[in-house]
Amino acid sequence: MSERILVAVAWPYANGSIHLGHTAGAYLPADIFARYHRMIGNEVAMVSGSDAHGTPVTIAADQQGVTPEDIYSKFQAEFLDTWERFNISFDLFTTTHTQNHAEVTQDIFLRLLEKGYLYTDTMSQPYCISDERFLPDRYVEGTCPHCESDGARGDQCDNCGRTLDPEDLIGIRCRTCGSTPEIRETEHFFLRLTAFEDQLLDWIREQDHLRPSVRNFTIGYLEGGLRDRAITRDLEWGVPVPVEGYESKRIYVWFEAVIGYLSATKEWAERSGKPDKWKEFWQDESRSYYFMGKDNIPFHTVIWPAMLLGYGDLNLPYNVPANEYMNLEDRKLSTSRNWAVWMPDYLDRYEPDPLRYVISAMMPESSDSDFSWTEYVRRNNDELVATYGNLIHRTLTMAGRNFDRAVPDPGSLDDESVALLDFAREALNETGRNISDCRFRNGLQSAMRLAQSTNRYLDAKAPWQAVKTDRADAARTIWTSLTAINCLKVALYPYMPTSSEKLHTMLGLDGTVETRGWNWEPNDLKPGIPLPRPKPLFRKFDESLIEEETARLGS
Ligand code: MF3
Ligand code: ZN
Repeated sequence: MSERILVAVAWPYANGSIHLGHTAGAYLPADIFARYHRMIGNEVAMVSGSDAHGTPVTIAADQQGVTPEDIYSKFQAEFLDTWERFNISFDLFTTTHTQNHAEVTQDIFLRLLEKGYLYTDTMSQPYCISDERFLPDRYVEGTCPHCESDGARGDQCDNCGRTLDPEDLIGIRCRTCGSTPEIRETEHFFLRLTAFEDQLLDWIREQDHLRPSVRNFTIGYLEGGLRDRAITRDLEWGVPVPVEGYESKRIYVWFEAVIGYLSATKEWAERSGKPDKWKEFWQDESRSYYFMGKDNIPFHTVIWPAMLLGYGDLNLPYNVPANEYMNLEDRKLSTSRNWAVWMPDYLDRYEPDPLRYVISAMMPESSDSDFSWTEYVRRNNDELVATYGNLIHRTLTMAGRNFDRAVPDPGSLDDESVALLDFAREALNETGRNISDCRFRNGLQSAMRLAQSTNRYLDAKAPWQAVKTDRADAARTIWTSLTAINCLKVALYPYMPTSSEKLHTMLGLDGTVETRGWNWEPNDLKPGIPLPRPKPLFRKFDESLIEEETARLGS
């Protein structure tokens, strides 16, 4: 009974590179989840794309003196390269700047309009006299009316996470020229969010499987009362408003970006030659998981569900496993101060799997966590290399030296070996359960406990001595250890796909881990299979890496 799983991942703004915070917040957990579900035989559509519209992109274009097209297409290409090198396995990574997305957006817009969920009203918007234009969203900043932090933008306060309208800001100023804008009347479409308040509260209260942080935040947000929100802007860059007289306006970036989940599923279905397949994920029985950082929660648990309810006949999110933040060397990530680990840079210097391991081990699932290069080196050297890498290396080396470079014959198993294999099966199941519950840290721990147990088993059985006195026992021990490693390869595949595939080959097996699926049987490893010469899967880092990498920060 294969299930359908939509893995919907937040759309990165196409105005800057992907960094560690994005990766830990959304892309890596989504990838682990998608890989696991494909392995157990579920049908997965993992979709996202670059968020090409809105003021983040036009501001970058203004600053660099190029067009918004230049900016978004440059980052679209870079994102695709990052996913490939970091092994983020999107089924489709598109952009909001496609004809398909505009059509799907306009269809939703018109249906909501027809059903009375959109209406027009005049609103006061800041207008910059020196720049001669209305200043939407990120073109203005000021003090947050909720938490009083300075530097809140016209769309959102990063400090308290509340969504804002520009007119809410205290001490509002133009981000381009610093002057105080004047307030002018302009006509816009509004989404009647107030119509959905009760329905949304009923719905979210029933969703017991949500992370408490996500559910409580949303309940608090809804209980605070919703306000209808303007969903068009005075801008030239974006999806046109499909109504006459609104040619100079565009649909608000947040309203159209969330529609990307649906339009991308349609594009993916179209490209795979089954244009109606999107319906299976959006109208039939299917579960959708939305991965993002915590600053994006209300758009996915309030605004997008309201739009879906208004449109009708589309599935609401099943789970929204939003992550908290991953800080860097005890400070909040800041792209403007270059306090970040940029993924393209990282991938120019290092392999993907050590970072995938370290992020997974300290994924900010229930509270913020802190990445540091010291921690990166420590976890790589003391855990990945010392526990997992060494286990593989010493087992394969012993098999090569003492058993003619082939899988030895275990004969009949002793109690310790049976116990280890039972433990392996339990560890694999536990990792699977944790991943399917979006507890990625625990999933990794379950798998690493198997590596630790296998090391202890090897130390106790000491096959390097037994081989001189009791060759049959040494053969049994090496085979059992190889078999436990063969299980680890499966359990760790969602976390570190590249090394699992290499390990698969080093175990003398053909095919791939991915296509063999989430399966492991002790007799997968047949005595006599030739073993290729092992190569180290991971390498120890010199402590000097720490200083080298921290020196790059903030410059
Ligand atoms: N671009 C937004 C951000 O980086 C996320 C958009 S998610 C979407 O914060 F669902 F709206 F697309
Ligand atoms: Zn605030």
